[in-house]
Amino acid sequence: MTESALQADEQLTVPQHVAIIMDGNGRWAQQRGKTRVVGHKNGVESVRAVVATARKLGVKALTLFAFSSENWQRPEQEVSVLMDLFMFVLTKEVKKLHKNNIRFQVIGDISRFSDKLRQKIDDAQTLTANNDAMVLSVAANYGGRWDIANAAKKVAEQVQQNQLTLDEINEHTLDQYTSLTDLPDLDLLIRTGGDYRISNFLLWQAAYAEFYFTEELWPDFKEQAFEKAIASFDQRERRFGQTSEQVNATTDK
Ligand code: IPE
Ligand code: IPE
Ligand code: MG
Repeated sequence: MTESALQADEQLTVPQHVAIIMDGNGRWAQQRGKTRVVGHKNGVESVRAVVATARKLGVKALTLFAFSSENWQRPEQEVSVLMDLFMFVLTKEVKKLHKNNIRFQVIGDISRFSDKLRQKIDDAQTLTANNDAMVLSVAANYGGRWDIANAAKKVAEQVQQNQLTLDEINEHTLDQYTSLTDLPDLDLLIRTGGDYRISNFLLWQAAYAEFYFTEELWPDFKEQAFEKAIASFDQRERRFGQTSEQVNATTDK
């Protein structure tokens, strides 16, 4: 077993909702003289480690960016391996998620996926629907702009059907139709792989998230690396627009 990056007696503020841009698979493989897809395959082990660690620490929601709406632009062969891998992992891991009382869901526009893959996703979501220890959301063919546009369309439908007036529309109305609306607000957004950008991930949901960037490539990001990110979150002062003095007057941190 790997040593924990967290002290056993530490009273940590654990984020309720963590999202991860799992980046750097291709470079990890290329550094080893392998093809990019080898990196994706090795990344699966990191997914397992992070899911288990999040569950252990008491994180309530974990959201993983697996495939962006822009990733279709990659070479056809790489896209096809990613789809096969998704299918394989779903088949293999869902029982374990269920056993660990984890609810699984996919966010994103899955209409472009094969019938077989959509059926697998549906089965996994149905099987785990009533689990309540943690929610694992996998973002597949997901784009933050798509998410917001999709919510706007749904609000417009409500107006069209006279269920809602223009004056009733506010940020909460829109929020109700965005992905992850039923989960705690996003607290921590991690990106591995050394780039400092959001790549069209959770644009709406990341409004007040803390950001954590690391050079580590995704296949190297395991339990300890995740715990380091959690420990960093614990050190942040979240002011939500207030002053530091105000925040300290209301907490005894
Ligand atoms: C992230 O790793 C995984 C996906 C986007 C599916 P990359 O494949 O982007 O790896 P790098 O960034 O090229 O190293
Ligand atoms: C973001 O990584 C998408 C996923 C991790 C799934 P990319 O590697 O596709 O991001 P860009 O294109 O370099 O910004
Ligand atoms: Mg990348």
